[in-house]
Amino acid sequence: MPTQSPCDNDSACVVGRSPLAALAKHQARARGVAEALPERTLWSQYHAELSPIGWHIGHCALVEHYWLAETILGETPDRDAHALYFPENSTKSSRGGHLPDRETLLAWTASVHERTLSLLIDPPIRLASHSLMAEDYLLHFLEQHFAQHHETLRYCLAARVRAIDAAGDTIPPSKAVLADPSLPPTVALEPGARRVGTDDVRGYDNERPSHTVTLAGAVLAERPITNAQWIAFMDADGYTEPVYWSDSGWAWRRRCGIERPWPWHLDAGGRYTWSGPGGWAPLDADAPVSGISFYEAEAFAAWAGARLPHEHEWEAAAREQRLRGTGVVWEWCANALAPYPGFTAFPYEGYSTPWFDGRHVVLRGGSRDTDPGLRRVTFRNFFEAHVRHQFAGLRLAWDWPE
Ligand code: AVJ
Ligand code: FE
Repeated sequence: MPTQSPCDNDSACVVGRSPLAALAKHQARARGVAEALPERTLWSQYHAELSPIGWHIGHCALVEHYWLAETILGETPDRDAHALYFPENSTKSSRGGHLPDRETLLAWTASVHERTLSLLIDPPIRLASHSLMAEDYLLHFLEQHFAQHHETLRYCLAARVRAIDAAGDTIPPSKAVLADPSLPPTVALEPGARRVGTDDVRGYDNERPSHTVTLAGAVLAERPITNAQWIAFMDADGYTEPVYWSDSGWAWRRRCGIERPWPWHLDAGGRYTWSGPGGWAPLDADAPVSGISFYEAEAFAAWAGARLPHEHEWEAAAREQRLRGTGVVWEWCANALAPYPGFTAFPYEGYSTPWFDGRHVVLRGGSRDTDPGLRRVTFRNFFEAHVRHQFAGLRLAWDWPE
């Protein structure tokens, strides 16, 4: 399959796109999802780490209402919506039981969506003069926020595919994996100073400010690890040999009984099929492996005599257009999410600051389901080390040879 590259320079992502049209498209797509699925599907939680599909749709509408109507125009907060759709007010498992029926959800989201667009197209003076509106900041924020939740909806759909057929009755037979499992060519990232991050207001707070880092140099794999290479790791007892695993990774693997990537199904013939958001499909041996945790990525790298790249190594190589195969799976990096020097939380404390806890690991690049509005070399995604529903794989790195 052709691989999409994330933008190799920031402007390419933005030129030729209208953020307002993109936001309107996200809104319509969300309503389309709510209309097309069986109603019960909107309320169902298909994975312990994921909220129901209907919750994400309501959450995105509330975020629009919260910033425009409540925060800037000073309207009375919608208490019921806050209780249900702000994540800090409920547990994921309790959300499904409180969601409205399809008709009510659609009527409310459609009215919020319509008001958002009319406010942004023809803003009253109080809105037009607000600092969050400068350089279309709020429009870009709402668009990107929606785009992230659309990707999460794809995770929910993949989890639904697995949940509907846990017994595997409707899973098609897999093909034999015959592809070459040898590792890809490498690219050299010479030691030296590099710029990372951005000062563009359209980036998220955790991408700012741009600054210089000193890299010791590294060798990076040109491409992410494929399914065929992952099977070679499995065939070499990668999942059962503790020497490849960190202590916490091994404890997690044992406790959860992890034996293969999250979307994979082992059929009676000893071959693998995988579940994506669109259903079950034979495993494509040459496609990047997807659906692994940071712990699994670390173990693979140790088995291969390699390590994971630091996010600055990834960004430097991506800016120099040295990487191939980016933008198909998120790539686990070696480091936890941390603020850049001079970080300021914006537009609210909760977007990044709670996740500077040493437990959230950075992922770079993007998946097949990442929106173009999020495909940029400075974008930092983050999840805890055990999470593996977010379409993530890995790329190998090695220290700079002496
Ligand atoms: C950075 C993808 C982990 O989906 O929870 C969405 C992004 N922040 N709404 C998430 C986010 C607020 C976040 N991730
Ligand atoms: Fe959100």
